[in-house]
Amino acid sequence: IPVDPFDLVIFGGTGDLARRKILPALFRRFCAGQMQEGTRIIGAARAEMDDVDYRAFVAEALIEFNDGHGCEEGTIAAFQRILSYVTLDALGENGWADLAAKMHDGRVRAFYFSVGPSLFGALAEKLHEHGMADSDTRIVVEKPFGRDLSTAKALNRALADHFDEGQIYRIDHYLGKETVQNLMAIRFGNMLFEPLWNSQYVDHIQITVAETVGVGGRGEYYDRSGAMRDMVQNHLMQLLCLIAMEPPAKFEPDSVRDEKLKVIRALDEVLPDQIVRGQYLAEGDKPGYLDHVETTDSTTESFIALKVHISNWRWAGTPFYLRTGKRLKARSSEIAVVFKATPHSIFGPEAGRHRNILTIRLQPNEGIDLDVTIKEPGPGGMRLIDVPLDMTFTEALGPDAEDVADAYERLIMDVVRGNQTLFMRGDEVEAAWAWTDPIIAGWETRGDDPIAYESGSSGPEEALALMHRDGRKWREVR
Ligand code: BG6
Repeated sequence: IPVDPFDLVIFGGTGDLARRKILPALFRRFCAGQMQEGTRIIGAARAEMDDVDYRAFVAEALIEFNDGHGCEEGTIAAFQRILSYVTLDALGENGWADLAAKMHDGRVRAFYFSVGPSLFGALAEKLHEHGMADSDTRIVVEKPFGRDLSTAKALNRALADHFDEGQIYRIDHYLGKETVQNLMAIRFGNMLFEPLWNSQYVDHIQITVAETVGVGGRGEYYDRSGAMRDMVQNHLMQLLCLIAMEPPAKFEPDSVRDEKLKVIRALDEVLPDQIVRGQYLAEGDKPGYLDHVETTDSTTESFIALKVHISNWRWAGTPFYLRTGKRLKARSSEIAVVFKATPHSIFGPEAGRHRNILTIRLQPNEGIDLDVTIKEPGPGGMRLIDVPLDMTFTEALGPDAEDVADAYERLIMDVVRGNQTLFMRGDEVEAAWAWTDPIIAGWETRGDDPIAYESGSSGPEEALALMHRDGRKWREVR
């Protein structure tokens, strides 16, 4: 469905995120016919360029990063016509009057802060000073949203000086992923699961986000963050919230975000023996973590596994195990809901006690499967085996399921439509930091070092032990 013409300004319009994600996402929505005549995309950055240079720059980025999304010839040229550029100094005066002169009244204006968080306050202030911060304005900010509770609060305050919460779109791109939204459809669109979705029936839940990539060229950023700040505080936390929250009354921004916030606030503290940090080693000619960063004795973690309880009526007694890491065996993200064994086996002790497991595969190979216990075929008596009821979305739904918009496409169009459901509210982000801060502070005061792990493995052995101790095991990363 086309949206009314809008103006989108990308601060950091020549940066890496703009090239890799934002511009290709906008291009695909343009190709899909979602942008009407008159829509304008304005790049803004320090580099000296004019409109012609910027159009060429964007065309190059599209050719490099738009793989797999074919557009007819000529569409890049058509897209280029809606692009323009302003050379601008975020901290000085240069360029602001030019930008203000380009704005149209009475249409949605979105300003994408694709810059480091240290510039968020200054940009908000300048937009206000130059008369661009009115009620039609929306701002989009990227992670990292601070590096702890106090910096996140300071950022929230700096934005709140000029914008209402309803105008601030904090991106966590995991919320824009198709299967992440499917978590809500599976839970709240079916009668089958929700009655069992509690500590009476669920033994434990595992959330894994495994990556094969290392930190590559992002060493400088990553070494100041680590897996806890880069992945757990935001992406894994959001998955945990969607899996654990109470049913919101409506699929509307504040209904959903209120429920997520309650989950974060009910998280228990994580004790030192409930968390394992790792750092990957070099393998053959592939560099190890320490080869990417300047400090050769860096103690930043590229892997985390932890166990946490949610102290509320629904979940007391059911542990949640979270795990994420770089340079692991496979790229695989999934959530497994492991149900309890039946209370009694009528087939005798030799039949074993079986558990149903509902696995929601987020990427790749999106789908769900449910392990169901059945009789092993044949005359050998009543022996039980577990068989998956497996649904891969592309197989079940055909090519349409393959052509789904990527997270950035969906989220940017939600900004234009004014739908904040898939964006984080300020209090959510602060609550997530309030839970993360003591964990990080604990490592710092104790001087804990991460455990080295082999590249291409499932992480440090100690992470396996974290579950073995509880008589459970991680699902294989594959
Ligand atoms: C980003 C992190 O937010 O998410 C990266 O900064 C990580 O370190 C990436 O690789 C993972 O996203 P995706 O969509 O590839 O799972």
